[in-house]
Amino acid sequence: MLTTLLLVTLLGFEVKAAITQPQPREWPCPVAADLDPCVCTTDADLNLYLDCSDITSTSQLQDVFTRTIFPFSDFMDLTINPAESHNEFTKILAGTFGLVTFQNILISNTLIDTIEEEALVYSHSTLGNLEVSNNNLQEFPFETLYLFEVLRELRMANNKLNSLPDIQSETLILLDLSGNLGLTLTPLTFGGATHIEEIWLREMGLTVDTGNAITDVPKDVFANNLYLSYLDLSGNEFSFTIIESFINPPTSTLDFVGLNGNDIVNVHPLSITGLNDVGARVQLRNNKVTELCEDDWSQLMEQLDTDNSLDLRDNPLRCGCDTQWLVQRVDVMKKINNQTACATGNLLHDLPADWFVSHCPDETCSINRKK
Ligand SMILES: *[C@@H]1O[C@H](CO)[C@@H](O)[C@H](O)[C@H]1NC(C)=O
Repeated sequence: MLTTLLLVTLLGFEVKAAITQPQPREWPCPVAADLDPCVCTTDADLNLYLDCSDITSTSQLQDVFTRTIFPFSDFMDLTINPAESHNEFTKILAGTFGLVTFQNILISNTLIDTIEEEALVYSHSTLGNLEVSNNNLQEFPFETLYLFEVLRELRMANNKLNSLPDIQSETLILLDLSGNLGLTLTPLTFGGATHIEEIWLREMGLTVDTGNAITDVPKDVFANNLYLSYLDLSGNEFSFTIIESFINPPTSTLDFVGLNGNDIVNVHPLSITGLNDVGARVQLRNNKVTELCEDDWSQLMEQLDTDNSLDLRDNPLRCGCDTQWLVQRVDVMKKINNQTACATGNLLHDLPADWFVSHCPDETCSINRKK
């Protein structure tokens, strides 16, 4: 009896000691030494995270996954985001990750030029976010994008992608292709991205022509995107008059259109349609807009309902009789950013309406407009 009591006490003591004593906490990670230079960590819920930022070559990454025994293969994150890129680390080859799956992958600041299709095959049913911005990517398996069952966000900014097949995905809501020069977009490029909400196409050297010449962005590129709410086309080379049906999602879903930093001079009345009638914003800052003729601009402005929602700052606005309708229509004028200035420096909002009445004949704009 006494012996049993003593034993229980001792056991209790032992258990207590085991809990308070610091232990290596690798589980459920693989053994740390095997993974080196990758590092596995877990959070309070024992989710698994893998950081391979210290990988220096293509084969080293393969070796890590070949030699390591993974007690659990369902990882939350894979991060490869080194402070400095390594010349020998240029590809993610087929089979690299073995059976290990990821929900989020971030690969950035590397010289990777290729991600082979078979590299991510085991993550087809798990991968929700793939960010591969700021690499050297020329090859990416776009053809099999539709096989990713839960992929919501794909960020590929600042790579060297030079061609883009039609994007097929019923799950993708965000796509960022900014900073890839020389891509050609067609009405089919995003047509199969049936649930896309956010498209980033900044600084891609995109152009469009006013005639029938071949362009990098023809009309109707977004014409099938039922949920498109955010479209950023800033810093491209759009010039002259933006053509009809340039941005025309089928319903009024657009909350934001970014066209800052182009060479846009004017808009066709139907160049931008499908703006959300509650709170939509359009940015045309730093372009070459000179006149705001009613026939060209009123349909765009009528879609907006919020003060300061059309940004026309840093344009060489003449603020002549083309602007008369605006200075008379205070309700429309309020939609233009209140810091928008004429080429002379005067604020658009400060122009004296009465003065326009006595100096501008009717329909002055059409008379003055250069075709
Ligand atoms: C301009 O608009 C901003 C934002 O609505 C507002 O805070 C500011 O007071 C306005 N400035 C003038 C001079 O009306």
